[in-house]
Amino acid sequence: MKDHQFATLAVHAGEAPCKLTGAVDTPIYQSTTFAAADSDEMAALYSGEKPGYMYTRYGNPTVHALEEKVAALEAGEAAQAFATGMAAVSSSILACVKAGDHVVAARSLYGATYNFLNRKLPAMGASTTFVQSTRPEDFEKAIQPNTRLIYFESPSNPILEILDIAVLGAIARKHEITSMMDNTFASPAIQQPLKLGISAVVHSATKYLCGHGDAMGGITIGSRDFIDHLNRDVLRDFGGVMSPFTAWLMLRGIRTLHLRMPAHCANAQKVAEFLFQHPQVERVYYPGLSSHPGHELAKRQMKAFGAVMSFEVKGGYEGGKRVMDAVKIFLRAASLGDTRSLIVHPASTSHRAVPREQREAIGITDGLVRLSVGIEAVEDLVADLDQALK
Ligand SMILES: Cc1ncc(COP(=O)(O)O)c(C=O)c1O
Repeated sequence: MKDHQFATLAVHAGEAPCKLTGAVDTPIYQSTTFAAADSDEMAALYSGEKPGYMYTRYGNPTVHALEEKVAALEAGEAAQAFATGMAAVSSSILACVKAGDHVVAARSLYGATYNFLNRKLPAMGASTTFVQSTRPEDFEKAIQPNTRLIYFESPSNPILEILDIAVLGAIARKHEITSMMDNTFASPAIQQPLKLGISAVVHSATKYLCGHGDAMGGITIGSRDFIDHLNRDVLRDFGGVMSPFTAWLMLRGIRTLHLRMPAHCANAQKVAEFLFQHPQVERVYYPGLSSHPGHELAKRQMKAFGAVMSFEVKGGYEGGKRVMDAVKIFLRAASLGDTRSLIVHPASTSHRAVPREQREAIGITDGLVRLSVGIEAVEDLVADLDQALK
């Protein structure tokens, strides 16, 4: 399947009709454990000498089908699925870092990832430097002799910073450290970081991969060696595995990823252009706008600009809340990547505990509103925002 086009991989990779029944859809192997033929086979399965299944925390055929599909879409050798995006993020970082090690990370990251790097790693004896710019040379300057990992998102959550994927990958290779990127906002339909030289990619599969807002999951893609290490030395002990039913929902969602993403992105571009010229809007963060500082770079490394954006509404904290209260189609709901359009106000929700100064330093101002643009009719979405802003 490796050399096929993306759309063909999205539909077929990792899956094949059942040899026994001809069923075209991958079965949900709702089994915790798998029986061996004899004691030798059981011992070989446990030691890893023989590939196969023995216990669903170690691996499951439905989950494996998903892993193969996503590995093909991200152009990686292998993938490991997890119960949530944060299980993928935290376990994958722990696969690279031990006590005494150091991480160089971007300043703009999903809140729980930031907390993991900022609070949990120090509690385990490792540390993180958050680079206060998007310049690759500042990432390189932050590297110390004990640095093991460069970690970033592009576009980043929630202010859509764009980082140079190829250059950061090259810096990591030069210093013989791992580069890891969260590709949740773009999805492999838009951007394939492994092809640009990144060592490992993580996803909140809860978002565009699943695509329908009905299942939580995470997935990490990388070299066979890295994924084996992640499975054997981290996941088996931490235990945050994906369930077979979730994997089946994700397989179903991904078969239309290549159709959904262009629809999301086309809608988002029109919404961003509408917001950009609106008198009640101070500022729009969307890499598809030529005013965005990362626009040229995004054009080079992305096929489209994604469908998440943030904008600053006039009237600060109250202004942000009033827009939230006035929308009729956008749903006041966390998350992103759903077919439905979603709206959140970070200052009163996800970032309410972060002191204002710290929030504002990374662009999360009182009036900032984040949109995940869905695949409804764009005229209806624009009209909804227009009446809300009025
Ligand atoms: C960029 C990014 N990474 C990771 C996560 C965590 O994913 P999950 O909620 O599936 O644990 C999120 C969640 O919003 C996210 O936006």
